[in-house]
Amino acid sequence: SNGKINIAIDGPAGAGKSTVARRVAEALSYVYVDTGAMYRAATWYLMKHEVLPEDVQEVLQHVPKMVIELKPDPSGQKVICNGVDVTAEIRSLDVTGNVSRYASIAGLREHLTSGQRRMAECKGVVMDGRDIGTTVLPDAELKVFMTASVKERALRRFKELREVGITLEQLERDIAARDKLDEDREVSPLRRSEDAIMLDTTHMDIEEVVDTIVSYCKTAIGWRD
Ligand code: CDP
Ligand code: CDP
Repeated sequence: SNGKINIAIDGPAGAGKSTVARRVAEALSYVYVDTGAMYRAATWYLMKHEVLPEDVQEVLQHVPKMVIELKPDPSGQKVICNGVDVTAEIRSLDVTGNVSRYASIAGLREHLTSGQRRMAECKGVVMDGRDIGTTVLPDAELKVFMTASVKERALRRFKELREVGITLEQLERDIAARDKLDEDREVSPLRRSEDAIMLDTTHMDIEEVVDTIVSYCKTAIGWRD
């Protein structure tokens, strides 16, 4: 063993998972894996090939052809889908509005889940998503379920997206709708694993959340400062 553990961070949209997971990985010299980016890249690919989420058989025919890679980059992380850099495109409102529909397809989830498990085999991974603690890495040594009120989460996204001209009310509705699809789907729904630590970040800034998780991690590995 290299003395490292795996850390699973799950929760709804805008809870702060990706921002925090990236910083925790930096602080510990771990590898950050953004599984949401993989669902977004799959969505981008399927939309580009004009495959509808209702058309499950056609989705399943495309699934084995999808090669999604996450590459570390000074500016964060690059997302490559079948050789194309889709880092920017996967954040579009179009992809965001459709991702939960494709993400409910079991065969697509299995494909992405097996890639995610491979990335965590050597330990030292901070992985964020919706089903990491429950399904992808049920043996992760540290699991955190991060939440915040829907108002606060919409406000955080609003501050990022202001220039698009979308209203705060619309964002709140979009986020609530996506949460509901993610929570209600049959395969690997968004749910807190029983052994996950609950962390409500509504009134916490990024720094506090990062410090909290880093200290959980140090406890989990028996680290002495
Ligand atoms: O960043 P944001 O919270 O908006 O979303 P994301 O983490 O990029 O994930 C986008 C969507 O992918 C989620 O709403 C889920 O539908 C899906 N997803 C999933 O089903 N399972 C995961 N492990 C990660 C994401
Ligand atoms: O990955 P997830 O959808 O859970 O959230 P995120 O994209 O990491 O965070 C959404 C926004 O909230 C980002 O702009 C963060 O900077 C911000 N944020 C915050 O203001 N306070 C926190 N405690 C966590 C995140």
